[in-house]
Amino acid sequence: MMSKNAWGWSLVCAVAIGAGLVLVAGYGAALAQDGDAPQPEPFEGQLLPTDKNAFFAGAGACTSCHTNMVDESGADVSIDAYWRATMMANAARDPYWLASVRVETLGAPGLKDVIEDKCTTCHMPMARTTVAVQDEAPGLLHGDGGLADPDHPLHALANDGVSCTLCHQVEPEGLGEPASFSGGFAIDTARAADNRPAYNPFASNPELSAVMQNASGFVPEQSEHVTKAELCASCHTLYTPYLDSSGAIAGEFPEQTPYFEWLNSQYVASTPCQGCHMPTAEGGVITSVVGGEPRSPFAKHVFVGGNVYMQSIFRAFGDDLELTASSEHVEATGARTLDQLQGRTASLALENLGYARSQVTANVVVRNLAGHKFPTGFPSRRAWLHLVIEDAGGNVVFESGGVDEQGRITGDNHDADPGSFEPHHKVIRQPHEVQIYESVMVDTDGNVTNILLRGSGYIKDNRLLPVGFDKITAPGDIAPDDLALEDANFTGGGDRVMYSINVGDAQGPFTVRVDLLYLSIGYNWAEKLRAFTTDESAAFMAYFDAVPNLPVVVASASATVGG
Ligand code: HEC
Ligand code: HEC
Ligand code: HEC
Ligand code: HEC
Ligand code: HEC
Repeated sequence: MMSKNAWGWSLVCAVAIGAGLVLVAGYGAALAQDGDAPQPEPFEGQLLPTDKNAFFAGAGACTSCHTNMVDESGADVSIDAYWRATMMANAARDPYWLASVRVETLGAPGLKDVIEDKCTTCHMPMARTTVAVQDEAPGLLHGDGGLADPDHPLHALANDGVSCTLCHQVEPEGLGEPASFSGGFAIDTARAADNRPAYNPFASNPELSAVMQNASGFVPEQSEHVTKAELCASCHTLYTPYLDSSGAIAGEFPEQTPYFEWLNSQYVASTPCQGCHMPTAEGGVITSVVGGEPRSPFAKHVFVGGNVYMQSIFRAFGDDLELTASSEHVEATGARTLDQLQGRTASLALENLGYARSQVTANVVVRNLAGHKFPTGFPSRRAWLHLVIEDAGGNVVFESGGVDEQGRITGDNHDADPGSFEPHHKVIRQPHEVQIYESVMVDTDGNVTNILLRGSGYIKDNRLLPVGFDKITAPGDIAPDDLALEDANFTGGGDRVMYSINVGDAQGPFTVRVDLLYLSIGYNWAEKLRAFTTDESAAFMAYFDAVPNLPVVVASASATVGG
């Protein structure tokens, strides 16, 4: 197990040096340890699509002008370069998503159309909106006539994911209201194809706007709503319908709620989603090759969250996945993701260390720095504490939260048995007790499940709360589970966990080292896909098996006691 942990350390040590190039070394080192894994070759990426229909255009229709952008420090801040390797640009190519949709429809074959229509709403929003309005039909994904079929006329727009002309055309009306959630963003499909809006915070020059309109059919229109969290909330608030054991739709459950978490945090007063996920460039930026006044503040299209693992799959299999990003773009986006996880996500401290009568005691204090829960979003995410105590001779006398290269956490009840789960802990005394910050779904019969359409609620939710979050008054949809609720040390902004460990007659001084680890795909979330013999599961499992599911070390602390 220790050697497997070394994967994590090597990735992290390599990255600590900082440059994108080092990240490649991290991936390379990881891959090199797996005898069968291909070495990642550089790749160019495909051209961005320039397809256009009555409502939308591929990103290539915009990036011909909106590229080669530099800020006042001389850094390249080109929108296409930042966006094209992000998860949103790849929401439709994402092999984990493609496999998951297939598995969900196999579980409820009678509802295949309904499910695919739901899933494509946010992951293929341009193509799905087009089908809904023009054909008044569901957005289908897999099989004949599905948007994943390269022969489908909308395939290129589908694969462009969450692209320029989706976000920049979302209408201000109704944003933040319940109807706008779960992909309920409004696109004005009545406007003419040569006069589509590109909403943005600035007042534009009519002559330059005409150049853009003539070339693309889109015209810049000033509107503040694009700077607000409610724009993002339309897709980042997800209520998923769920089925009971007879297969009937029985209700809706709050699967993803970063916007509500943020609404209940201190950031609501100061920092919208864009404030952290679209950081501003240095000084003004001329936003197109045509020219115009420099724009300031200029929001970089960074859009990274915590999904380093999928970036490492993109880096290894970019050609196979038909990315429009090059390997350089992927490395840069992967480095930004890591930088966010390791620099702005959480901090750790060890407090009140003691040693008496063979007991080492320590409090681990975790602070959440994100604008919502950590982890947030998709329920496969998890963060946990890995704590190791060594004696004077460097021998490990206690370990909680070790992990193997499939992402399996030692001691996690759920990884040992998918029907079970690890509860929230106030105090940890045994190696098999692990503090895992996660959400665990249960179905209508109360059984633990990783099938989205069966999840009717969370039996566990002790994800770290953002600063300012009041767990007592928070609405039920985002309230923590009962154990976390009654734990006085689990509060808005973080958690304090006590470790009280019997080290027997081991000799001090003892070194206590703790890491906060993060994985975007928990072990059983990936393993569940292996059980299904579909092309999409096979494709995803091949990537998963080739790229070790290494945790990221988000924060660390160590101290010595009992000398
Ligand atoms: C022929 C070049 C050209 C193309 C193609 C083009 N634009 Fe523009 N765009 C411009 C110019 C020039 C401006 C700046 C207008 C000004 O300075 O007043 C602009 C402004 C904008 C703005 C407002 C921000 C700003 O700095 O003024 C947005 C948003 C925008 N474009 C989005 C798009 C999207 C989305 C597409 C693709 C459908 C697109 N553009 C295609 C040239 C273009
Ligand atoms: C309301 C918009 C919306 C709908 C509808 C939606 N998703 Fe998503 N999905 C998202 C967002 C946003 C994320 C990213 C959240 C994050 O990174 O934590 C995501 C992430 C995922 C991921 C994780 C991808 C990865 O690489 O880790 C999977 C798998 C997924 N969705 C499956 C589905 C399935 C299956 C459906 C249909 C049942 C669906 N989604 C419907 C918005 C949506
Ligand atoms: C104070 C800064 C801050 C604000 C404000 C903020 N975020 Fe984040 N966000 C982060 C950080 C840091 C991470 C990385 C840690 C993580 O994954 O949660 C992140 C991660 C994410 C992720 C990826 C989660 C995953 O699966 O790993 C999503 C999705 C997300 N944010 C959406 C939003 C939305 C939507 C809003 C606005 C409602 C928002 N964020 C506001 C800092 C912020
Ligand atoms: C996920 C949604 C999203 C996507 C995808 C997206 N944008 Fe933006 N874009 C925004 C938001 C939000 C802003 C305004 C941010 C702010 O100022 O707070 C913005 C701002 C801009 C601006 C003006 C600069 C500024 O600071 O306001 C331009 C130009 C622009 N986008 C072009 C593009 C182009 C071209 C693409 C595709 C390659 C694209 N955007 C993709 C959301 C998006
Ligand atoms: C049209 C729907 C849509 C809109 C609007 C949207 N998103 Fe997303 N977003 C998605 C989907 C879908 C994913 C997940 C794709 C995947 O993982 O396969 C995602 C993923 C993300 C992630 C996670 C990336 C990671 O590395 O884990 C962040 C952060 C994010 N979006 C931020 C934003 C912000 C900020 C806004 C508003 C400016 C926004 N999104 C608007 C659909 C949307």
